Amino acid sequence: GLRKKEVNVLCLGLDNSGKTTIINRLKPSNHSNHLGPLSGEWKHASQTQTQEIVPTIGFNIERFKSSSLSFTVFDMSGQSRYRNLWEHCYKESHAIIFVIDSGDKLRMVVAKEELDTLLNHEDIRNRKMPVLFFANKMDLRDAMSSVRVSQLLSLENIKEKPWHICASDAIKGEGLQEGLDWLHGKWV
Ligand code: GTP
Ligand code: MG
Repeated sequence: GLRKKEVNVLCLGLDNSGKTTIINRLKPSNHSNHLGPLSGEWKHASQTQTQEIVPTIGFNIERFKSSSLSFTVFDMSGQSRYRNLWEHCYKESHAIIFVIDSGDKLRMVVAKEELDTLLNHEDIRNRKMPVLFFANKMDLRDAMSSVRVSQLLSLENIKEKPWHICASDAIKGEGLQEGLDWLHGKWV
């Protein structure tokens, strides 16, 4: 049969922003009662994840399929000692998911620095690859809005790439589908 188009997605952002929690939420589950629009193959796990999420060491690789696309997600560690691994994946990646902890006001400037370094990297700079931002942890009482997060990160300055920001709560799974639908729409 026809081969599905292979899309490599790089999941980046500071440590503790919620990258692994987001990716875990998207893992197919037989117990799922929520069928997304992607032929029911992106599923939100409806049960509490049995596995506790721990800080990522290095990176993890996860694969997801929709009806027409085959996604490989590189879930990178955000810890500063591992951030040098990020750039080794830039050439191979077709899209970026950048996760921000909306409650972490103190480190927003660090997140912006890492984002600017990423966007100015020679393997990223002149490419039209889509960038999906999750302003995650919107459930926290003092979380910043996605509009505020996009101001603080100066997202309006990104001219050469399509980008989109969604507020999300990865624990409840809210906001994730909207982001994935946007990303999926870049290929179908
Ligand atoms: P590294 O692997 O170290 O880069 O971190 P990460 O970005 O993968 O973060 P991880 O998914 O491990 O989540 C860090 C902590 O934030 C965990 O305790 C999660 O339960 C919590 N968390 C993730 N998403 C949310 C959210 O939307 N709301 C709240 N309140 N907590 C969240
Ligand atoms: Mg992680």
